[in-house]
Amino acid sequence: MAEPGAERDVRGEARLTGRTYERFCYLHGRRSKVPSSRADRRGRAERIERVPRISARPLATRRIARSPAPESAAPRPGRAEPEAPARGPTRFPPGPRSPPRDARRRKPKPAGRPPRVSCRRVRRTALVTGANRGIGVEVCRRLAADGHDVILTARDPVAGREAARELGVRFEMLDVADGASVTGCARRAGPVAILVNNAGVFPPGTVLDAPSESWREAIETNFLGALRCCRAFVPAMVERGYGRVVNVSSGYGAFAEGLDGPAPYAVSKAALNALTKKLASEVSGDVKVNAVCPGWVRTRMGGEGAELPVEEAVETILWLSSLPADGPNGGFFRDRAPIPW
Ligand SMILES: NC(=O)c1ccc[n+]([C@@H]2O[C@H](COP(=O)([O-])OP(=O)(O)OC[C@H]3O[C@@H](n4cnc5c(N)ncnc54)[C@H](OP(=O)(O)O)[C@@H]3O)[C@@H](O)[C@H]2O)c1
Repeated sequence: MAEPGAERDVRGEARLTGRTYERFCYLHGRRSKVPSSRADRRGRAERIERVPRISARPLATRRIARSPAPESAAPRPGRAEPEAPARGPTRFPPGPRSPPRDARRRKPKPAGRPPRVSCRRVRRTALVTGANRGIGVEVCRRLAADGHDVILTARDPVAGREAARELGVRFEMLDVADGASVTGCARRAGPVAILVNNAGVFPPGTVLDAPSESWREAIETNFLGALRCCRAFVPAMVERGYGRVVNVSSGYGAFAEGLDGPAPYAVSKAALNALTKKLASEVSGDVKVNAVCPGWVRTRMGGEGAELPVEEAVETILWLSSLPADGPNGGFFRDRAPIPW
């Protein structure tokens, strides 16, 4: 049981209360005995007011109140805690200062161990054309999942914005058939490290019967569209010494496969293949320009009866967009393997 005038705190330590506390204060006010006369009692009351309010708990049980450090003074992660200013004791019990928290955790490095190399992929800026649906939107999804800064572009701002919002990536309006739209987009987007020329149309017809409009549309989009984008973005790649250009072509554009398919489409993709080969021979540094046939893919262009889902069709595009420095340049690929022009 606690003595009268003393309580026990949670740690079981005696704590002075009431008159016993006053007596304690009095004693700390440098008087040897408790005054008994009225005058003395008055003097004692005044003195008690002047005595700083200190806890009667033993010092070891006292908690030292620390005012929160201002934000600017807070130690930054990874840095050792800064020394406290010499303003009197802020720790208890006094004694040699323990090492800063970080220093306590740091283990000595064994001698001779090689420095750790991060396996994280480099985050790059990637721009994909015609990406509001089909293969383009899937390429954006995968590039974003790989940690790249993706710029999803489309000629239809409503559909493009909606696709970009769903993926949580940036949107820029881009009609590859319009020169001003390409230069405007390039100005807004700034330099990019990865360019996927994916926008495409599939106008039907033979050489002799396809209307001029179909020819114009196919050439403007599938060939000149990619050419415009290359001219807008590749110079900065060469200047910066790094770039990956992936031209989404088709086996229909391959002489080796008979230039099969509708004439405006086949001829425009053959021209895209020629552009790929020619541009690849002009670039320097770690810049690579390749073409890809994604296969027959279930999209609006490929139709519902097509062989491949978009998830599979984008594999080679993604591989070409992240080729290492010793990867191929100026090639034509399907399923990650070279195919003849
Ligand atoms: N699907 C296949 O089996 C297959 C096979 C071989 C190659 N490819 C090639 O793969 C690429 C993607 O085709 P896909 O299957 O995903 O076809 P898709 O679903 O029809 O998508 C084509 C995309 O290109 C866009 N586009 C068309 N003209 C454009 C322009 N002037 N400016 C900007 N964007 C434009 C379309 O936008 P809108 O929505 O505004 O029309 C659409 O987003 C094409 O280059 C195609 O030739 C496809």
